Amino acid sequence: MNTKCIYWAMMALGAVLTSAQRCPYRMDIAPCVCTESEKLAMDCSRVVDIAQLIRIFEADFPSTTFWRLTMTGTYDAPIQLSFLPDGVFGSVNFQEILIQHTLIQRVDDYAFVGSKDSLSMLWITHSELTSFPTTILPLMPNLMQLDLSYNLLQFLPDLRSSSLRSLTLAHNSQLAFTDQLFTKLDQIVDLNIGYCQVETLTPGIFLNMMNLSSLYLEHNRLTHLAAASLHFTSGAMEEIVLSGNQITSVDPNFLSGTGKHAYLMLVNNQITTLAEATWRPVFQDISEPGDGMVMLDGNRLECGCSLAWLVASPSFLSHLAYGAACANGTAIHDLDPDSLQHDCSS
Ligand SMILES: *[C@@H]1O[C@H](CO)[C@@H](O)[C@H](O)[C@H]1NC(C)=O
Ligand SMILES: *[C@@H]1O[C@H](CO)[C@@H](O)[C@H](O)[C@H]1NC(C)=O
Repeated sequence: MNTKCIYWAMMALGAVLTSAQRCPYRMDIAPCVCTESEKLAMDCSRVVDIAQLIRIFEADFPSTTFWRLTMTGTYDAPIQLSFLPDGVFGSVNFQEILIQHTLIQRVDDYAFVGSKDSLSMLWITHSELTSFPTTILPLMPNLMQLDLSYNLLQFLPDLRSSSLRSLTLAHNSQLAFTDQLFTKLDQIVDLNIGYCQVETLTPGIFLNMMNLSSLYLEHNRLTHLAAASLHFTSGAMEEIVLSGNQITSVDPNFLSGTGKHAYLMLVNNQITTLAEATWRPVFQDISEPGDGMVMLDGNRLECGCSLAWLVASPSFLSHLAYGAACANGTAIHDLDPDSLQHDCSS
């Protein structure tokens, strides 16, 4: 082999070594596993306790810039960590952190501080969080997605972020929050607070979310929709999901600013009347011309004269989902507009 060949062989080997060096030595971080295809990722699903996790992130990391950290237990075998202390990830930073099925109850204020500039997605779900350090959010300019669903969150102080686009707080059945919770989240596009036992919606609570498009409030304890409780400013609502509540009464002017494409889902509630003063403006907004829809399946509607205005309008009816039915089981779409009109004008 001539010197040139050896030189090229060494260059090639060097390239392999340099790229191979982006992960720490395997034994230094076991049982975490580092992988490097296009992006560097760490999987720490097998970590046994917090001391071990801290020790692992004290190892020598050739590159401290990672794409993703995954820590995923299972429903039957959650990861045995009960808290994440400040600085737990050392100098290593991540763009995405996915933590699921753990026993984590507490996250200290600066647990994720090393990733404050890089983090775009943070999930801590199916765990036992009773609180979350919201003070860190304004310091994370790139955080777009936060999912804290399936925890035991009790109270969230006001959230502030001008980057967050998707927030999921679903399945925190003891969650309480103030009227101000959402006022500093102006970039939110998707908001999910389903299954949280929410009892009331303060009028105007969503007005600051100028880009809101999906709002999930299903399976809460809402009984009443007051005026302005669903007022929006985005004009780009796609889904407003209120199914599985116990809504019995709906005030005039409860909904506005949805734009023309909104799906308003009120499946399985206890709405009995569709008063014209309340509902005509809703159907007008989504039907002239629009492709919005109202879904009222699973409500026992009184199909008397109070519905004549709706049944008489083929255009409005075309924006009412077929499942809407009278208390006696007859579908609204099967009612005879002429006989209703005749009965009600006499
Ligand atoms: C929010 O809306 C504004 C104005 O329409 C737009 O410039 C901005 O990019 C939107 N933000 C998101 C997160 O979509
Ligand atoms: C249910 O009530 C509507 C409106 O009064 C009536 O037109 C329809 O025939 C009734 N259906 C049944 C099955 O009694």
